[in-house]
Amino acid sequence: MPGLNIGIDLGTSTVTAFVEGKGIVLSEATAITYDTFHNEIVAIGNTAMDMLEKAPDSLVPVKPIKSGVISDFSATAEILSTIVEKVCKNQIFRPNVIVNAPSCVTSPDRKAIVEACCAGGAGKVSVIAEPVLSALGIGLSIEHPHGVMVIDLGAGTTDIAVITMGTVAYATSLKVAGDDMDKSIRQYIRREKDIDIGLHSAKKIKHTVGCAYRRSEEIEMSVTGKDHLSGMPKVFSISSNEVYEALKDHIRAILNGIQDVLEQTPPELYSDICNEGITLTGGLSKLPGLDKVLTKKLGIKVTRAADPEHSAAKGAGYVLKNMKALEDHGYSFRAKEYTE
Ligand SMILES: Nc1ncnc2c1ncn2[C@@H]1O[C@H](COP(=O)(O)OP(=O)(O)O)[C@@H](O)[C@H]1O
Ligand SMILES: [Mg+2]
Repeated sequence: MPGLNIGIDLGTSTVTAFVEGKGIVLSEATAITYDTFHNEIVAIGNTAMDMLEKAPDSLVPVKPIKSGVISDFSATAEILSTIVEKVCKNQIFRPNVIVNAPSCVTSPDRKAIVEACCAGGAGKVSVIAEPVLSALGIGLSIEHPHGVMVIDLGAGTTDIAVITMGTVAYATSLKVAGDDMDKSIRQYIRREKDIDIGLHSAKKIKHTVGCAYRRSEEIEMSVTGKDHLSGMPKVFSISSNEVYEALKDHIRAILNGIQDVLEQTPPELYSDICNEGITLTGGLSKLPGLDKVLTKKLGIKVTRAADPEHSAAKGAGYVLKNMKALEDHGYSFRAKEYTE
C-alpha cells in the first residue's frame, strides 16, 4: 500500500498516533473548542481540554467521543485531520489508518469511525476492536485457538473481551469507566460536604487518592472547592476511603460485568483464562488496588499491563507491521473493514 501507515487510538479522553517505523509520535486530548461568535476553531487537543468548564460563553469546548463512539462527527473529523496533518506533514499519498473501536460497537458507529478517518485525510481505514489491539500491544499471543481475556478500562467504557484466534469471541462494553467515576466523586463531595467542585478537580482526586479498596492506612489530599450555600471558596480534605465510598458501586459494576462475560465463556476458553490470568489495560487500570481486588473476587490472577494507556496504539503499530504475515498464516482480524 503506498503512503504512510499510521495507527490511531481514538479514545474518549485521548487520541494517540503511532507511525510505522517511529512508534508513538503524539498524544492529545480528544477535545476541540469552537468560537461560536466568529464561527471558527480556536483550539484542538490538550489546549481545548484545559478550557472545559473554564471557557467564556462565546467558546464551546466539545469532547466528541462519548463511550468510545462518535457523538459529534465533524468535531471528530477535525481532530483526526489535525492529527493526520501533523503526522504526515508533506506526504503526497493519504495515509492508511488502523483505528480502534469498542468491541461491541454497532455497524453504523463503526462506519462513522471509518468515515471520520477518511474525512480527516485517511486513505484506507481498518477498524479493529480495542481489546484485540491492546492484547497485541501488550505482546499477548492471540492468534491461536486459546482464550485470552483483556479488559480495557478507559474514560468512557470498560471493554471486557475474550479473544481467541485473533478475534473477539465474547465481550461486553460497560459505560462505567473513568469519566463516570469523576462524576461520582463530584456528587459525593456535594452530598457529604456541601461543596461544589469541577470535573478537573474530581479527576485529580481520583488520580491522587483514588483507591479500589478500603485502605488500612489512609492517604489524604487538600482541595479547593466552592461552598454550596455561601458560594465562598472552601479548602477541604478528602481521604482515600472517602473516594473508595464514591467509587465502590462502579467497581462492583465492573466486577459484575467481568463475571457475566466469564459465565458466557465456554469451558475450554474459560480454563485457558484461569490458567493464564486476565490483563487490564487503559488509563483507569492504574486505579490503585483494582488488579488485587479483582484477583480476590474472581479467584483468577488479574495483572495490569505496563504502560496501559498506550497498549492500543502500540497494538495498532503491531498490526501495521504484521497484518500481511498474519493473513499469510491463515489468520485475519475479522473486525477488519476497508473502505475503497
Ligand atoms: N493513576 C490513575 N488512577 C486512576 N485513573 C487514572 C489514572 N491515570 C489515568 N486514569 C484514568 O484513565 C482514563 C483514561 O484512560 P485512557 O485509556 O487514556 O482512556 P480512553 O482510551 O477512553 O481515552 C481517565 O478516566 C483517567 O482519569
Ligand atoms: Mg482507550
